[in-house]
Amino acid sequence: MNQHSRFAAKTILLSGATGGLGRALAMQLAQAGAKLLLTARSQPALLQLAEQLPGPHSYFAADISRATERQALCDWAIAEGVDGLINNAGCGLLALAGEQTEPELEQLLAVNLQVPISLCNTLLPTLKMRSDAVIINIGSILGSIGLPGSSLYGATKAGLQRYSEALRRELSDSRVAVFYCAPRAIATPLNSEASFAMNRKLGNAMDSPDQIATTIIKQCHKPPRSIYLGWPEKLFVRINALAPRLVDGALRKQLATIKRFAGRTK
Ligand SMILES: NC(=O)c1ccc[n+]([C@@H]2O[C@H](COP(=O)([O-])OP(=O)(O)OC[C@H]3O[C@@H](n4cnc5c(N)ncnc54)[C@H](OP(=O)(O)O)[C@@H]3O)[C@@H](O)[C@H]2O)c1
Repeated sequence: MNQHSRFAAKTILLSGATGGLGRALAMQLAQAGAKLLLTARSQPALLQLAEQLPGPHSYFAADISRATERQALCDWAIAEGVDGLINNAGCGLLALAGEQTEPELEQLLAVNLQVPISLCNTLLPTLKMRSDAVIINIGSILGSIGLPGSSLYGATKAGLQRYSEALRRELSDSRVAVFYCAPRAIATPLNSEASFAMNRKLGNAMDSPDQIATTIIKQCHKPPRSIYLGWPEKLFVRINALAPRLVDGALRKQLATIKRFAGRTK
């Protein structure tokens, strides 16, 4: 155990624990001495993960898009003595506006935006009583740069970014540290084959989940803030904020390629 880690001996609720980034975070947090409360929908996958991790960890299978299962998860986490929350569960979608289905709209808004806010809301009274609590919301670079084909995904992450920013400021007089972490593309099952192919065609870098987990854990030892991961993407976030027409022009050149991969009506 790393005694100097802010996660040592902390009880951390990790959503999306069985996914690409979730597994990498779980392994590195376990190595840092955290006690993990793992959650996702698949019980067998949670059991298998818990058995692979060093140290005793607990898990709770729940579909967090359902209010009753989410409440049961929170009741369990509070009873387990939660002092940290990592909102990592998420759903991706590469689809053009006008071709996104209503179920996709509902699922992305729920899992990527409503659920993290709801978990913060329900757990905050407990977290505020801890001596050193942490909330880490996993967003995306696409929450800060509107990308064709990712309008819905980007909208959910933009909402999470702004929520996290306000929450961090609201809790700046408390002992709850709030981080928003926005990776660029990561090689995980969240990306469809079309997303992988599009990123290859456009020359977009994809990080490994292990690399991202290492960076997130390291950055979360610094003062709370929004963290953008990947170079030059973090520079593009700034350019997009200051001179969006430059980014409009660059993405206009990629539009035909993006439409080829994201389009459903050929
Ligand atoms: N991959 C990327 O390119 C990328 C880039 C930037 C940011 N991110 C963000 O990183 C985070 C992790 O993504 P990932 O790439 O690791 O995704 P992933 O491999 O697809 O894993 C998603 C995780 O979320 C869980 N999950 C999904 N829907 C759920 C639901 N309704 N209830 C409970 N659990 C649910 C899944 O488990 P079950 O299916 O068993 O429920 C799984 O553990 C997400 O917030 C994502 O937006 C990803």
